[in-house]
Amino acid sequence: MNRWNLPDLGIGIGLRTVHFAHILEHRPQVDWFEVLSENFLDTGGRPLYVLDQVVERYPVALHGVSMSIGGTDPLDREYLRKLKALATRTRAHWVSDHLCWTGVMGRNTHDLLPMPYTEEALRHTAARARQVSEILERPLVLENPSSYVEFADSTLTEWDFLARLAEEADCGLLLDVNNVYVSSFNHGFDPHVYIDALPADRVVQYHLAGHTNKGTHIIDTHSDRALEAVWDLYARAWRRTGAVATLFEWDEDIPPFEVVHEEALKARVRRDAPAAVHGAA
Ligand SMILES: [Fe+2]
Repeated sequence: MNRWNLPDLGIGIGLRTVHFAHILEHRPQVDWFEVLSENFLDTGGRPLYVLDQVVERYPVALHGVSMSIGGTDPLDREYLRKLKALATRTRAHWVSDHLCWTGVMGRNTHDLLPMPYTEEALRHTAARARQVSEILERPLVLENPSSYVEFADSTLTEWDFLARLAEEADCGLLLDVNNVYVSSFNHGFDPHVYIDALPADRVVQYHLAGHTNKGTHIIDTHSDRALEAVWDLYARAWRRTGAVATLFEWDEDIPPFEVVHEEALKARVRRDAPAAVHGAA
């Protein structure tokens, strides 16, 4: 159990527009949905109607992409105000975003850009994360990013940076085991070391997803089923954290709802008997 007693919501999938009609019509037996915050911050009409229907029947958590927690522009107070209102409206169990920056001097790149892992960046990001938690009146949950380049200036590993950030900012972690796999391939580190280094009692959610291996590098496309090696990382992490809400992301070439859900439910096997299936920890 995590230190905030945030609940294990079970096995969920990301709420995607192409599945709206299916969800409203069939009311599938899904444990929970993750809602992309930005899709609902400045909208009304059908999207908000669907969201209200979903939150009536399912638990949800919010997941965002534009907080820019590591950025140097001032925090966007208006964005955070809207985010808090959305969290209240949806009774979101928690609000997450990524360890990244998304732009500078008012320009938004709409990309999750990698951070320099330095003491200075750590102090800066921890202070901002604390501020955000205060504004949102709940612990901010940060996800480990996938990345393709690194800063030569970095003096800390990503896992040490993330572990210290979580402690210093008193925030939760969304552990994306696919991102760990992708970055370990791209940068040549051992994903097991990464998984084992994170403070287990701060992990409140998992992400799983598929990716595209280009041979020389992996692109985090969320366009496929997850690799066995990624499921193995999930099982390893699970043995450290115990029951934690799990979510499958599928964002490109999205197949029918049942296919995504079926892939997500593979987590059940790893959750119920991970050690038996994959040997001793
Ligand atoms: Fe993710």
